Formats: sequence, structure tokens, C-alpha cells
Amino acid sequence: MKVTISLIKADIGSIAGHVVVHPKHEELARKKLQEAKETGLILDYYVFHVGDDLQLLMTHQKGEDSPEIHKLAWDIFVEATEKVSKVYKLYGAGQDLLSESFSGNIRGLGPGVAEMEFEERRSEPVLVFAADKTEPGAWNFKLYKIFADPFNTAGLVIDPAMHEGFVFEVVDLLEGHAVKLKAPEEVYDLLALIGTTGRYVIRKVWRKIDNEVAAAASVTRLSLIAGRYVGKDDPVLIVRAQHGLPATGEVLEAFAFPHLVSGWMRGSHTGPLMPVSLRDAKCTRFDGPPRVVGLGFQLHNGLLEGPVDLFDDPAFDHTRRIAEEIADYMRRHGPFMPHRLGPEEMEYTTLPQVLAKLKERFVKVAVK
Ligand code: F6R
Ligand code: MG
Ligand code: MG
Repeated sequence: MKVTISLIKADIGSIAGHVVVHPKHEELARKKLQEAKETGLILDYYVFHVGDDLQLLMTHQKGEDSPEIHKLAWDIFVEATEKVSKVYKLYGAGQDLLSESFSGNIRGLGPGVAEMEFEERRSEPVLVFAADKTEPGAWNFKLYKIFADPFNTAGLVIDPAMHEGFVFEVVDLLEGHAVKLKAPEEVYDLLALIGTTGRYVIRKVWRKIDNEVAAAASVTRLSLIAGRYVGKDDPVLIVRAQHGLPATGEVLEAFAFPHLVSGWMRGSHTGPLMPVSLRDAKCTRFDGPPRVVGLGFQLHNGLLEGPVDLFDDPAFDHTRRIAEEIADYMRRHGPFMPHRLGPEEMEYTTLPQVLAKLKERFVKVAVK
């Protein structure tokens, strides 16, 4: 059977600053998604959070970009804002809901969306990842490791189904166009783009031999939608695993290195991406460090069996310790780059005001 998985998320307010979603948000979302399941609109759902982002995972048969599914998510975010965020005066109530009303597709309205439709295999392991205090480009490094680096994914060399490689769709967030690049033959071109994480973002990955979809990520950039700082676009990712696709352990291997991402405090700092369990999916130190949760499911006729809380595991303790060390090291740079992002990547800055104030005091000097 053909199934669509939609993971739709939004920051609609949180407790004690930008720390964590309110349990009542999740309660309300579960109630609404249960109703939608009973009417047959969706097949199944799972509600969770990472930091201040409420995550709605849904399975259904309406295909990608379904107005009904997107409206369901939008209405839940609006209702949770009204009935929870506003009642408890949560911080940043309704923050990611950038539009007054729904207009057929949730993309461009603020919430982040990752979706993929496929024929359910005989056994279908699906992994979902959600990160807080970072941006969609944070997945570029992970997706490259998983689908293009044989030092991460042994199957690229060993498994005949993967040996031909994968196709990456890269979206240019500034120009609003996308290009498909093949690995391994075009990896240098691919890396030339996706190394610029604030602009070129991987949205989809397919297996080359048969075009089977393997991964889907969210690619919104809120500040480009709103034209002002409205928080980072804390991204989500769906990955199918096993049997001719990277094994679950090969997908997770990419998370064992806490690579540096943009985001953290005020969306304007570089820090390590720390894999955590659902229990630790809240942002504290310097509003972070940026965190990622991973959940594993088995699909069966569109139903979600699980989850396995993938980073709730001593195998990732060492990664977390390294992440803490990197966090310490980066923090000691205070307001200096590269801990603080470059001016063009900072979500907001006082630089124009400072320069305006000092305008009269600048004097000409020879620099050549
Ligand atoms: C980062 C984030 C937080 C806030 C910070 C300041 O994406 O959401 O780090 O930027 O807590 O928030 P305000 O300006 O609302 O006090
Ligand atoms: Mg927030
Ligand atoms: Mg967030």
C-alpha cells in the first residue's frame, strides 16, 4: 500500500523562555489527532517535542502537500496557541504561525514540514529526527555522511542496492530553486553547495537504482518568509532504513559526531549538535546546546509501531560528553566569531545602530 508520512512542527510557545513545550500542548495535539484517526483522515500519529517545538508525526494516504493534512496540523497549532499558550502566557505564544489564516498549504506559513510518500515495503523501518536551536542546513552534514560517505555507511561499498549511490535534491533558499546531484559521481559539486548550510539545503534523497525515496527534510527559512527575525527553523527529517537503504545503525552513526551547527543562543551562534533522549529534549545552557532527538518506528499498513528512543543509549554518552566539551570551548569565545555567527548569518544585530552612533568618530586611515 502507498503511505505518506508527514512530520509537521511549530514553535507555538514554551515554558520558562524558549526551553520546552507545555505538556498540555501535546495533550491537545494527541486528542485532535486521535479524532482525525477515528474519522479516517489519518492512519496513525505520534506527538512529541524537542525543546520549544511541538512535533506532529502523521501517517495517511492523502499524498504529499495534502491541504487536508496540512490544515489538520495548522488547526492544531492555532488551537494549542489559543487554549494553552495564551492561557498560561507561555513564552513566544504562536511564534511560528506567521499567517492569519490557512491557505491550502502549510508551507510558507511558518511551520516546518518533512513529507514522503512510498509503497510500504515488506518490513518498513522509519526513523524521524527533530532538532531545536538550529536550522535546516544542520542536516546537510548528516545526510552526506549517511548517503554519500562510505566511511560512515559501509553499505555504500558492500550492498549492491546502494552501490550505485543516491541522488540529492538541494534547495537554494535564497533563489527558491533546486538542483538534483548524484553521489558518488558529483560529490565535489554537491559539497561545494551544501557546505554553505545557511543557503543550500538538502530536501530529499533517492536511491539511484530505482528512485526509491530514502529521506525527506524540512527546508523553511522563517526569516525569509517573515522578512524579520522570528526564531530559527528548527528542522525535522524522515529517513527510511534497511534492506537496500542505510541500516538504522548507519543512519545513527552520522549522529555520533556532534558537528558544529548554526543556531543556539538568539539563533546567532555556532555550537555542537547534541543527540539526546526525549527525556532530555529541552534547551537549557545558553538556550541549548542545539539538540536532536531520534525516534525509530516500524510501519505496518500505515500504522506506527514504536517509538524506540534512539539516543536514549549509553552508546551516545561519549558523543554528549564531546558535545559538552565543544560547548565549553565555543562559549569561551563569548561575542567573538566563529562562536558568534558572521553578520550576514546573525538573526539580528545591533551593528547598524552601533555604526550609526560612531559615524562621526570614524577617521580616515591608510589600510593599503
Ligand atoms: C533561539 C531562541 C532563543 C532566543 C533567546 C532570546 O532560536 O529562540 O535563544 O533567541 O532566548 O529571546 P528573546 O529575544 O525572546 O528574549
Ligand atoms: Mg521559541
Ligand atoms: Mg525551537
